[in-house]
Amino acid sequence: MGVLQLLAVSLFFVSLSLAQRPNIVFIVADDLGWNDVGFRNPDMITPNIDKLATEGIIFNNAYVQPLCSPSRTAFMSGMYPFHAGMQHMALNRDQKVCVPLNYTFLPQELKKLGYATHIIGKWHLGYCKWECTPTYRGFDTFFGYYNAGEDYFTHTSGRYLDFRDNKLPARNYTGEYSANTFGQRAVDIIHRHNVSQPLFLYLPYQSVHAPIEVPQKYEDMYPNVINEGRRKYSGMVSALDEAVGNVTKALKDRGLFENTLILFTADNGGHLQAYSNNWPLRGGKYTIWEGGTKGASFMYGAGLQKTGTTYEGMIHAIDWKPTLVSAAGGTPESTIDGMSLWDSIRNGLPSSRTEFIYNIDYFEFPEEGHAAIRVGDYKLILGYPGDPDGWHKPMNRTEDDIYEETVYFTGDDPVQLFNIREDPTEHNNIAPAMPDMVAKLRARFEEYTKTMVPANYPDGDPASDPSNFGDVWSPGWC
Ligand SMILES: *[C@@H]1O[C@H](CO)[C@@H](O)[C@H](O)[C@H]1NC(C)=O
Ligand SMILES: *[C@@H]1O[C@H](CO)[C@@H](O)[C@H](O)[C@H]1NC(C)=O
Ligand SMILES: *[C@@H]1O[C@H](CO)[C@@H](O)[C@H](O)[C@H]1NC(C)=O
Ligand SMILES: *[C@@H]1O[C@H](CO)[C@@H](O)[C@H](O)[C@H]1NC(C)=O
Ligand SMILES: *[C@@H]1O[C@H](CO)[C@@H](O)[C@H](O)[C@H]1NC(C)=O
Repeated sequence: MGVLQLLAVSLFFVSLSLAQRPNIVFIVADDLGWNDVGFRNPDMITPNIDKLATEGIIFNNAYVQPLCSPSRTAFMSGMYPFHAGMQHMALNRDQKVCVPLNYTFLPQELKKLGYATHIIGKWHLGYCKWECTPTYRGFDTFFGYYNAGEDYFTHTSGRYLDFRDNKLPARNYTGEYSANTFGQRAVDIIHRHNVSQPLFLYLPYQSVHAPIEVPQKYEDMYPNVINEGRRKYSGMVSALDEAVGNVTKALKDRGLFENTLILFTADNGGHLQAYSNNWPLRGGKYTIWEGGTKGASFMYGAGLQKTGTTYEGMIHAIDWKPTLVSAAGGTPESTIDGMSLWDSIRNGLPSSRTEFIYNIDYFEFPEEGHAAIRVGDYKLILGYPGDPDGWHKPMNRTEDDIYEETVYFTGDDPVQLFNIREDPTEHNNIAPAMPDMVAKLRARFEEYTKTMVPANYPDGDPASDPSNFGDVWSPGWC
């Protein structure tokens, strides 16, 4: 064979392998609770999500961080937030912080494998300079907002617009509900996509984070829910489900569905004060109880061998990046905290993850800080686990009824141990009965703390003021 023929043959194989890599759709539902999906709670109307989940693999032990920025750090970088200085709370709009720029993000890894990469929705990983923003961190296109949350119709946060199409402010979507706007953009991208490349769509939806806003027709799907907040919230979940259904349909229309892998996860446990629900788990968003850290999650599609089942193996948010890189046929980086669980998950084999850190947040320790580690079946909690505590059924009354504040006092140093396999709802603190196990987990925990980077959580910077940038939350002040 001549050189040109060899080249032609190898180009053929390159393009073949590109064409065969699965399309990947990574959907993140903001603040969605453990018990807010139809496949767990028959009161929720989520037919599209339920179909994918029940025909795919439902994860019963997929862990996330207690809130937004830390979980998204883990999704994108495969690193524990406590290694990135991102472990304390979520980023505020006026903080000069972004995930360290020397971290490689998931879309950068997938670009190396030939993927077209798009993000639609919420970023929340820092934006004070352009280098921190999505199109500088591996995404070909960005449509969405930089910060924690905003109005679903005006796309404003604190009176100022936070909505962009790539780098430009997107001012003409006022009045459109974001589940529709984002759903439609995803459909458009799927229709425009050049199928000679594999597609990576990262869809971190605004839904179902506060504020509680939804078009009336979705609220009307829940006439039996008496509490107004819970009724609207349930409608928000159904609007999200409809957007998921539209994305699925677009993939089918383009003939891409058969070769698509879908990962769906919440970013943290449900926010109880904002009408989410994690029953029967304890606690919610902001806490390192299981209710704050177990994500409603499933996978569907290309490459999965054992489907229509649940997966009990342990998975942590840091594992999704290397797992998806493996699913794409790539080799995950060896230097990150996460590990690929692709072969375990797709074949229904035991997880190779046997321990993880829930979080190490010493920011205001011991009054407010919290830390927890899991080793095998055991979970050790050190310090204040966070509010809200307790077990809450979905609200269904005229008055809101969730909030019971737990009181911890300065100087409290609670140590709690649970066997999560036997007691997944954390009712029985067995620390007093098992001092040796407490000591063992504490020693393991101390190993991890040696590698901790202090939280990067500075005071706000007035230079962030959007009035300096045409009344739009904008990069350019760090
Ligand atoms: C990024 O830079 C920090 C600070 O220089 C360093 O400690 C860390 O190891 C680097 N991380 C990576 C993934 O290169
Ligand atoms: C908003 O403006 C952009 C850029 O001109 C355009 O592409 C888009 O279709 C417009 N969207 C709406 C909803 O009008
Ligand atoms: C789903 O698609 C239908 C038909 O195009 C559209 O009317 C609806 O608004 C879409 N829903 C969402 C949430 O995007
Ligand atoms: C799709 O990409 C291939 C390879 O780059 C190119 O040859 C082809 O013209 C593109 N198709 C369209 C419709 O743009
Ligand atoms: C809420 O309570 C009403 C009245 O008891 C009941 O009819 C309805 O089924 C309940 N709805 C849910 C979602 O639990």
